[in-house]
Amino acid sequence: MALVTTTEMFRKAYDGGYAIGAFNVNNMEIVQGITEACREEKAPVILQVSKGARAYANHTYLVKLVEAAVAECPEIPIALHLDHGPDFETCKACIDGGFTSVMIDASSKPFAENIEITKKVVEYAHDHGVVVEAELGTLAGIEDDVKVAAHAASYTRPEEVEEFVTKTGCDSLAIAIGTSHGAYKFTAAQCTRNEQGILVPPPLRFDVLEEVSRRLPGFPIVLHGSSSVPQNYVKMINDNGGKMPDAVGIPEEQLRHAAELSVCKINIDSDLRLAMTGTIRQFFNEHPDKFDPREYLKPARANIKELVRHKLVDVLGCAGKA
Ligand code: G3H
Ligand code: 13P
Ligand code: ZN
Repeated sequence: MALVTTTEMFRKAYDGGYAIGAFNVNNMEIVQGITEACREEKAPVILQVSKGARAYANHTYLVKLVEAAVAECPEIPIALHLDHGPDFETCKACIDGGFTSVMIDASSKPFAENIEITKKVVEYAHDHGVVVEAELGTLAGIEDDVKVAAHAASYTRPEEVEEFVTKTGCDSLAIAIGTSHGAYKFTAAQCTRNEQGILVPPPLRFDVLEEVSRRLPGFPIVLHGSSSVPQNYVKMINDNGGKMPDAVGIPEEQLRHAAELSVCKINIDSDLRLAMTGTIRQFFNEHPDKFDPREYLKPARANIKELVRHKLVDVLGCAGKA
């Protein structure tokens, strides 16, 4: 199967009450870990590339890595998506350069300007058979070089979504309901603590999601900032020389619930980074004499694969849907 757009994936996900995993890729081991899990679990998948990933690994290398995954996993649908496209030029470069889906993220701009920029990208993308994700509302956290403080984040206003989708023609919409980018999604002051002393974040705003869905029946909704920050990997990092106090993510049962509703795409990046970093830190601690990158990247890739398998089966509900 060649690379696909997300149209068919989202239609089935919406009707089936599950979500597609959108995992960020930056190197070969991450691509392999994700797609091996998806192949074994027969799950459709979105591999997404940020501006930072293109700067780090180079557009061509990333496209070729994803094409290699498509060749190795012919039985599952794979989409190649631009994550947080910052402007028309970056979206155009990805549309012209083999991507099947792009995000234009003009969510920090005023409403009218967000519509104008998004519409321009949609027109170019649709002329080239590519689909477009747009965003309304602002998440807290860090995306590429843009850091949004928690107080500057704002929930999506449901009363704006119909006008936005109608005027832009976008194919899916990322909304802000309380998720946040990175491994430190909430300050201690925003959370309570459970019996183990782990921070418990405020619940997602399902009332906002439900009102958006009521206004946009059948329309695919996207959640960014949806890593759960697994505490076993935070502990592995901290036990092996790292320092990540109070890293906390989105509880997985809330993501599962969102997937049963209108959320068709759930973005996960930080969890993969934690699995990779924790595994490599532990490896070096246990084997200070080793220096062959294959020896530490192999268990890192294996742990990414198992983490992705868990997401597909237990959180997204998309295992067996390819
Ligand atoms: O939302 C942002 C993604 O996690 C990508 O992160 O910009 O560091 O590649 P990045
Ligand atoms: P996390 O930082 O929660 O993994 O979010 C990733 C994301 O939204 C990528 O666009
Ligand atoms: Zn994001």
